Amino acid sequence: MRSFLGRDILSLKDMEREEFFQIFRVADALKPYAAERRNGDLLKHKTLLTAFYQPSTRTRLATEAAMHRLGGHVLGFSDAKMTRAGDFYQESIKDTVHMLEYYGDVIAMRHFQQGAPDEAARWASVPVINCGDGWGEHPTQVLTDLYTIWQQRGTLDGMKVLLVGDMRMRTMHSILYAMSQFDLEGFVVSPPDMSLTEEFKADLDGRSVQYREVESVEACIAEADVIYMEPVVQADYTQSRVEASGERGGTPAAYRVTRELLAARAKPDSIILHSLPRMDELPPDVDSTRHARYWVEAFNGVVMRMALLSLVLGAVE
Ligand code: CP
Repeated sequence: MRSFLGRDILSLKDMEREEFFQIFRVADALKPYAAERRNGDLLKHKTLLTAFYQPSTRTRLATEAAMHRLGGHVLGFSDAKMTRAGDFYQESIKDTVHMLEYYGDVIAMRHFQQGAPDEAARWASVPVINCGDGWGEHPTQVLTDLYTIWQQRGTLDGMKVLLVGDMRMRTMHSILYAMSQFDLEGFVVSPPDMSLTEEFKADLDGRSVQYREVESVEACIAEADVIYMEPVVQADYTQSRVEASGERGGTPAAYRVTRELLAARAKPDSIILHSLPRMDELPPDVDSTRHARYWVEAFNGVVMRMALLSLVLGAVE
């Protein structure tokens, strides 16, 4: 298995099965810090830089919380408009990253341009963690999600996963790539204008990912062990910021998971994950059903980032 020391976390495309389990084992070992709300000193000599060119609630704060939990230092920006990359100068990723690498030991980057973290990694002498790039990938979120499934269901192999939402979403790309490493079977449900591209499907076929496209949640929910959701009422992830304006419309029934549908059709032990934020595809009254695991998933977001930071900074093997 390749070492994680100094490694960039940019994509799940080429992550190997044993590497997933290694990350999960480290996450399990570090989980008590988050569960017991205590801080340690594993990363006390290290500094995290957060470079967020797009809004975030969970990813940035969970990554920063993880660094604090392990005794490390944090600095960064959450609004690129307050940097030279977001004003008159439009400073390049290359020049920006050449600065950031002098200020810290690992860079966590979110960007509206697909491939921006890869570009950063080309120039940075410190590890770069992709925290979401345009419609590209969101590896730390999906590692959190796979860890949550593994923890909650005891396995990944053998699970049937219903993926519902906008298939242009970076989480959907990362989870479908990751599925190549496990005996996972997918049902993919999305509006036609948000479906998997032919190019991406060819890539998945080349990786022997097992999935089929289905027209509605109702048509396959009875078979699903895991229901993995994203909105279809969605922002444009290629923009640095999208304001809420006017009527945003509602989610068609085919892409919603409701309390009534769960009671009528879902497997009793199926679990729902949603990386959040949500719109009306997942009504709040589902929160109190036995299927809801998205708050556990959110908690695990801190646990997973502790594991990743510790691994790439060489504090654990
Ligand atoms: N799940 C997720 O990426 O949330 P944020 O956009 O709030 O970081």
